[in-house]
Amino acid sequence: MVRAGRVRLPRGWPIVDNRRVMIESSPPAGRPPGPPVALVTGASTGIGRATAEVFVRRGYRVVGTCRDPASLESADRPAGVRYVALDLADRVGVAACAQAILAEGGVDVLVNNAGQSAMGPLESVTVEAVEQLFAVNVFGPVQLTQLLLPSLRARRGGTVVMVGSMIAEFPLPFRSTYTASKLALKGFVLAARREVAPFGVRMTLVEPAYFKTALTGNRAVHLPADSPYAGPFAAVRASIARSDARGGDPRVVAEKIAGIAADDDPAPVYVVGGAGPALVAARRLLSARAAESLVARLYGLRR
Ligand SMILES: NC(=O)c1ccc[n+]([C@@H]2O[C@H](COP(=O)([O-])OP(=O)(O)OC[C@H]3O[C@@H](n4cnc5c(N)ncnc54)[C@H](OP(=O)(O)O)[C@@H]3O)[C@@H](O)[C@H]2O)c1
Repeated sequence: MVRAGRVRLPRGWPIVDNRRVMIESSPPAGRPPGPPVALVTGASTGIGRATAEVFVRRGYRVVGTCRDPASLESADRPAGVRYVALDLADRVGVAACAQAILAEGGVDVLVNNAGQSAMGPLESVTVEAVEQLFAVNVFGPVQLTQLLLPSLRARRGGTVVMVGSMIAEFPLPFRSTYTASKLALKGFVLAARREVAPFGVRMTLVEPAYFKTALTGNRAVHLPADSPYAGPFAAVRASIARSDARGGDPRVVAEKIAGIAADDDPAPVYVVGGAGPALVAARRLLSARAAESLVARLYGLRR
């Protein structure tokens, strides 16, 4: 018998017994009758809301999450989407949400879409801010996936889509925390997808380029007034603002995600939006150093 190792958590982190949640909610074999079920995190705005709408149109029963469903105006609730509360930074809350979903029979599709953005020189981002972003962008989605995987295995089918970012293909200065969080998510998908494949479960990463959503307005900026990085930071920020302003319609990503859910054999990674796919293909022809200086120049850095 393999014994789970004891893990020492950072002070203040609540202990959540994922195994207990999984055992208490052990799923029935096969899939229950009725339409397929999709759980879309971060469905109050942007890509998540558009994705929830597409799944409804395709005949799914859709559960969407956000931190405070009660505050959602009725105009912001697409017809056919049932909202439940989920704060990905709250490990106990993630377990409770998963348990409720499992009690209703589990899901066929999990879209780990919710996320936050951040910007600032590595030197000025506090460790607490790094932890917070990783909690939302990485640890929460990973925990939710762990908890729902047994029900997907029991159905011998289903899809997990993680929403990463094209920034993982082109890491950007002053975006190190966000880039690292999306690279971490990518690592989980690329490594784990072959673990779950024999059970008929598919796992894929979608990397959007620039899309017009609430993400930019909510982006945390970590830059002290007297920062020695202020000049180049402003150049990169202005360049990102121009790209944000030209951002695409989030429904493009939503259609891609729904297409992946209907695909028996989706690819490991899809880059979506604008020149994204072509840029990623072109980057493969460049050395790492050449790609790095190209990105720096594109974002207004001189050296
Ligand atoms: N837009 C782009 O250009 C772009 C590019 C690359 C990648 N992405 C990725 O796409 C995903 C969706 O972003 P979006 O652009 O659609 O942004 P958005 O409009 O800001 O949507 C973010 C969603 O995440 C939810 N959320 C935020 N913090 C949360 C938390 N702590 N716990 C649970 N849910 C939380 C928000 O819901 P509440 O605030 O209501 O809780 C909202 O529904 C993100 O993972 C983002 O990194 C976006």
